[in-house]
Amino acid sequence: MAKQLNVGMIGYGFMGRAHSNAYRMVTNFFDVPQEPVLKVICGLVEDEAKAFAKQWGYESHCTDWRQVIERDDIDVVDICVPNNVHAEIAIAAAEAGKMIICEKPLALDVAQARTMVEAVEKAGVATLVSFCYRRVPAVTLAKALIDEGRLGKIFHYRSVFLQDWTISAEVPQGGMATWRLDVKAAGSGVTGDLLAHCIDTAMWHNGPITRVNAMTETFIKERVHTETGKVEPVGIDDACTFFCRFENGSMGNFESTRYARGHKALYTFEINGEHASIRWDLHDLHRLEWFDHRDEGKLRGWRSIHVTDHGGDHPYMDHWWVPGLAIGYAEAFVHQVADFMTAVGKGEPCSPTFREALATQKVCEAVLESAKSGTWVEVPAD
Ligand SMILES: NC(=O)c1ccc[n+]([C@@H]2O[C@H](COP(=O)([O-])OP(=O)(O)OC[C@H]3O[C@@H](n4cnc5c(N)ncnc54)[C@H](O)[C@@H]3O)[C@@H](O)[C@H]2O)c1
Repeated sequence: MAKQLNVGMIGYGFMGRAHSNAYRMVTNFFDVPQEPVLKVICGLVEDEAKAFAKQWGYESHCTDWRQVIERDDIDVVDICVPNNVHAEIAIAAAEAGKMIICEKPLALDVAQARTMVEAVEKAGVATLVSFCYRRVPAVTLAKALIDEGRLGKIFHYRSVFLQDWTISAEVPQGGMATWRLDVKAAGSGVTGDLLAHCIDTAMWHNGPITRVNAMTETFIKERVHTETGKVEPVGIDDACTFFCRFENGSMGNFESTRYARGHKALYTFEINGEHASIRWDLHDLHRLEWFDHRDEGKLRGWRSIHVTDHGGDHPYMDHWWVPGLAIGYAEAFVHQVADFMTAVGKGEPCSPTFREALATQKVCEAVLESAKSGTWVEVPAD
């Protein structure tokens, strides 16, 4: 194996920064088999791409993603662009034999996600979809506690992701800053953008979701489109609530909205089992709340675990400072890159792969279908 992992990053926005930071930090904290080398950054605006390359240490920049794929010296293509561009880049990258890290949601819809899965599996390239919250240590710890059977039979999984940034009717749709409000660029609203995270984490924790019943709302029906300057219908869901059945028999409750005044990124989940419950909140991401009914009665209560211990007790934390010192959002992306590089080094897949992200896409699509039809919708198993 070469000593370098040559990175071609597409997109220099929010996620382009989060991923670039991860490549720069990873070898300082993790013993990964290769050294990431930031070869090229690609984005739409030449001056911005150039400035980003300088600031983040990329060797070169470009404005056409095809140039990244064509380069023989690129090992991994990292896709950090709006959702409508994921498929085209990923399929071309797979055909060129590149490894791919792709931002979530995998695609605009299930049909597109399937073509991406086919392409990467045919090419046999390594993939990873950036459902980054799995690698927040407290969220990873929750998975370990569930897998150890400590909760017993699981009854409930409830999760919300609340924001408030689109309440004003003056916020436009489309264009660089507000592509998330344009259904053609985003595929859907909060369902693909926010609930996809909750669904991915939930299925990782609690197994497949088999059927869903949903309600969506678009509170502001028309907005100016940045590209046309005209008032156009809004095609995304501003808010979505759904309940569901997991394959293990437990019940799920999910809610997401961009109309929860006062909330910027309130992502929480709570899991209730026969013996114990778990609760997590992104605003306090290094803590995991735990309640165990088996505790001695007079001491029984919710405890707040500060997930910073060493000695293998708390996932990832041995790599960071000393027990008691917290890490944050950016480090989840460092863990993601570390896990990807370690898996690739061993010739193993790194979860969630494109195929696993397709499962999340199927739930998102079933949710949107259910909201439209007003009925229960089965999530296809294949
Ligand atoms: N994992 C997470 O928690 C998380 C958080 C935010 C965004 N995302 C996902 O990351 C992706 C990007 O979101 P963002 O917030 O970084 O967006 P952004 O608007 O901040 O940045 C988008 C970037 O894509 C570039 N771009 C757009 N079209 C392009 C094209 N055709 N060719 C080359 N470059 C192009 C733009 O120049 C810009 O640099 C989306 O899929 C989004 O859903 C994931």
